[in-house]
Amino acid sequence: MRIVSIVGARPNFVKMAPLIHAMARRPEFSPTLVHTGQHYDQAMSEQFFQDLEIRPPDFNLEVGSGTHALQTAQVMQRLDPILESLNPDLVLVVGDVNSTLAAAITAVKRGIAVAHVEAGLRSFDRSMPEEINRILTDAIADFLFVTEESGRANLLKEGVDPAKIHFVGNVMIDALQASRDRWERSSVLQTLGLAPGATYAVLTLHRPSNVDDAGRLTSFLEAIETLARHIPIVFPVHPRVKQQIIRYRHGVTEPAPSGDRGRDKGIIYVDPLGYLDFVALVSRARLVLTDSGGIQEEATFLGVPCLTLRNTTERPVTVTHGTNRIIGSDPNRLVDESLKTLADPSRPNRALPLWDGHAAERIVDILDESRRHAKG
Ligand code: UD1
Repeated sequence: MRIVSIVGARPNFVKMAPLIHAMARRPEFSPTLVHTGQHYDQAMSEQFFQDLEIRPPDFNLEVGSGTHALQTAQVMQRLDPILESLNPDLVLVVGDVNSTLAAAITAVKRGIAVAHVEAGLRSFDRSMPEEINRILTDAIADFLFVTEESGRANLLKEGVDPAKIHFVGNVMIDALQASRDRWERSSVLQTLGLAPGATYAVLTLHRPSNVDDAGRLTSFLEAIETLARHIPIVFPVHPRVKQQIIRYRHGVTEPAPSGDRGRDKGIIYVDPLGYLDFVALVSRARLVLTDSGGIQEEATFLGVPCLTLRNTTERPVTVTHGTNRIIGSDPNRLVDESLKTLADPSRPNRALPLWDGHAAERIVDILDESRRHAKG
């Protein structure tokens, strides 16, 4: 089975790694890896390939940054001739970034089957670019692999053929499990100037709705400074946020790779961390504050209380079964809710169904089965 796997942005690398490893173990699979180049900085891309032990991509489309239309169009334009010459049996996409949607459209227009890993998640907030990417990718995919039951329910409501939907678990958790030995050995706390066993919180913020508006970002930073009087906060800063902080917030210490150089009013600003260091940091934290999707799942799995700085989540199982609470994007709530959580940390109540480190194997089994079926 000739499969072209597409990755573009940071969370894609994490999700695709277990699938790449699972396919490599099966001689009947002939995989090609395409990196769209949506993320391209060493810290946002290469470091993840190293940490997740992903082989170098066969093709890099080097689309880089740009408007959504430009990024999507360039992936399509540059991927199309590759699909034409390889003529694969299947294109495999993960997650909800622009590269995911662009690759899925390019494939279906060539009559190539599409498999979408992490299908069916819905925030029901169409102002999120990812929500549009999810809805459209799912509408044209042939295999829809879901991480939680809400995914199946959402897809059925949208009229997707039940035979296309497979509840397989969560490949992000596969990645986390497979690399446990290595992230447990990470010396990230030492690098950041934190003692072993130190009490701290981790913050990530990068959604356009939270950081693109100067007033909102400034209020967030003020709220974080207030919270940092109670607990040190490690803030790995996404490049888009770094640009905004420098633009809007005169006087804030520029994020630096060393924790000491990046300290400002109890906040430890650091450049984006690699996968192993980031997971290690989250696993030992008292609290995670985030507007990311995947981090809600990682914090849940690691049993670390998580407050999501958004009004919705597309991953409701992290709230019903996990450590996550949705507190909205009003910076004023951030301090109160954090202090409440620190005083009375939430406890996960149940293990999450099929989040057991074997999702990628299930996916590869299902694809293999369909290959046999098609042949026979
Ligand atoms: C993208 C995804 C988002 C995902 C996030 C993870 C879309 C619509 N968004 O958002 O779902 O949660 O990745 O990080 O696909 N930049 C760099 N270096 C890089 C990459 C980006 O400096 O290697 C800067 C550029 O200024 C760029 C900005 O970050 O314009 C935003 O990058 P982009 O890929 O457009 O979206 P993200 O915010 O990273």
